[in-house]
Amino acid sequence: MTLLSQKGDSIMTSDEIREKFIKFFEKRGHKHIPSSPLVPENDPTTLFVSAGMQPLVPYILGKDHPEGKRLVNSQPSLRLEDIEEVGDNRHTTFFEMLGNWSLGDYFKEEQLSWFYEFLTKELGLPKEKLYVTLFEGGDGVAKDEESAAIWKNLGIPEDRIFWYGVDNNWWSRSGTPDNMVEGDIGGPDSEVFYDFGTKHDPKYGKECHPNCDCGRFLEIGNSVFIEYKKTKSGLEELPQKSVDFGGGLERLAAAVKGDSDVFAIDLFSKMISDIEEWSGKKYSDPASQPAMRVIADHTRASIALVKDGVLPANKLHGYILRRLLRRAAVKMHALGSPVSKVADLVDEKKAQDVIGEELERFAKSLDRGMKEVGKIKKIDGKIAFDLYQSYGFPLEITEELFEEKGQKIDHKQFEKEFKKHQDLSRTASGGMFKGGLAEDSPATRKLHTATHLLHQSLRTILGKHVEQKGSNITSERLRFDFSHPKALGQEEVKKVEDLMNEKIKEGLPVTSRESTYDAAIKEGALAFFGEKYGDRVKVYSISPSTGASTELSRMSSGQVFSKEVCGGPHVDNTKELGHVKITKEESAGAGVRRIYAVISDK
Ligand code: ALA
Repeated sequence: MTLLSQKGDSIMTSDEIREKFIKFFEKRGHKHIPSSPLVPENDPTTLFVSAGMQPLVPYILGKDHPEGKRLVNSQPSLRLEDIEEVGDNRHTTFFEMLGNWSLGDYFKEEQLSWFYEFLTKELGLPKEKLYVTLFEGGDGVAKDEESAAIWKNLGIPEDRIFWYGVDNNWWSRSGTPDNMVEGDIGGPDSEVFYDFGTKHDPKYGKECHPNCDCGRFLEIGNSVFIEYKKTKSGLEELPQKSVDFGGGLERLAAAVKGDSDVFAIDLFSKMISDIEEWSGKKYSDPASQPAMRVIADHTRASIALVKDGVLPANKLHGYILRRLLRRAAVKMHALGSPVSKVADLVDEKKAQDVIGEELERFAKSLDRGMKEVGKIKKIDGKIAFDLYQSYGFPLEITEELFEEKGQKIDHKQFEKEFKKHQDLSRTASGGMFKGGLAEDSPATRKLHTATHLLHQSLRTILGKHVEQKGSNITSERLRFDFSHPKALGQEEVKKVEDLMNEKIKEGLPVTSRESTYDAAIKEGALAFFGEKYGDRVKVYSISPSTGASTELSRMSSGQVFSKEVCGGPHVDNTKELGHVKITKEESAGAGVRRIYAVISDK
């Protein structure tokens, strides 16, 4: 299909925009690094990757990145905090973030000039439609006059430069300096907005400006100048100044198309036309448009989650997936189309099976729940919780049902009920989206090393067909998914656990070195084949120090217990683990088993 811009000429596809971005920065000395899975492996403080910088925090803080100081990639990202906004022309929960980084290398001059060149020359966006925003100063950090001078030099006139405070032009994972937690990094940023020239709606304020919510302007890129770290005593300057750029691919595609609706781009067109066909409704109809956008966004997010190993469940990642699917399903129902159709929007077989099965179950309770809803005269938090508990209705959906009747739900009351029944501490409202620094605590180090011991022990006891299918570590436990055709017997679980503890008792040193990915695999290092690695990788070995001078000589005497391609962090010696215990073994899909384990006193 050829896409047409508003003027009617054919335009770049989203794939082409992504490719141009990567090539543009590669030409300027950047290494293309692989994206991370949506569920971070080593970061118990956050459920999902929501920005390309997240896995790079240790390197922004000063650790050497094996690929160098200039990096570029495209990172699938999920932002749940925007879930309520989905339905308008520009918000999505899932998006692809194009990113480039300078780790203590170039700074404002190169960054702003390059991004401007990319927008105007590579994407061909008209200069006069670009507006920029800058940090006006605050919290002891100066007004960003330096960036203003650079933008003016590039040809952005004063009247298209707007100044804002910490709420708009300061970026950290936790928001403003006040909200940053100790250890958080951030700094002032400069955003570029595209002006679609639509009429200002005075409902959003007297004057229109780039950060106005009327929909005329769309933010298409954010250059963050990471210069600060939050400490006990406030913001502290980092020894190196880094650039963290992120731009939403979908929004860039909308700007290229000249249409302020991000759901009108190629990445959504098939989904939207399928929904139109099944529901018999038109996307252009304002009554149907928000629902179709929610279905398209949430389904796309769900596909990405399932692809990264998330399965519907009642807590953590699985709960978010379930909630996204149920919201999509309720909207599908509201459009008069069968709920199960959501699964037909999915191309990939595995994701289609998982989503199809989940929706089939929900469709039944949705029908019963809707009947129940019809009987409710006056909603309150307690009844809303009952609807959630009995029929799986997410709160915000119940809210929309009742909004038409002019009734509101007391969130506090709902949450009180919820807390009574479930441990919310690790879900969205428990603050998991606030932090997000790749955690490097003693507890996670231990569990990370325990994961390597587990992986190798499974292969030793069960056989070489065992391959890692997923891994997730919180400060309390490890979770490891691996290929194996059937449930493990009690005897097998015990053997695996015993072998791990034997290796802990032996007090084996854990060492690492750098290598190329290919060389590491060739010499027998295990890797998670679901993960994409860069060319240069770290290889962690767990083996006795025998005095043999090279690792190869230790290998040849068969003493290396485990060798894996991995980013760390790990303990220095297995004895630091004390004792591990496997707490659960269960299915994680066809041919995949899941093991939970903890560090225990005995
Ligand atoms: N990390 C920055 C953002 O997410 C680029 O906006």
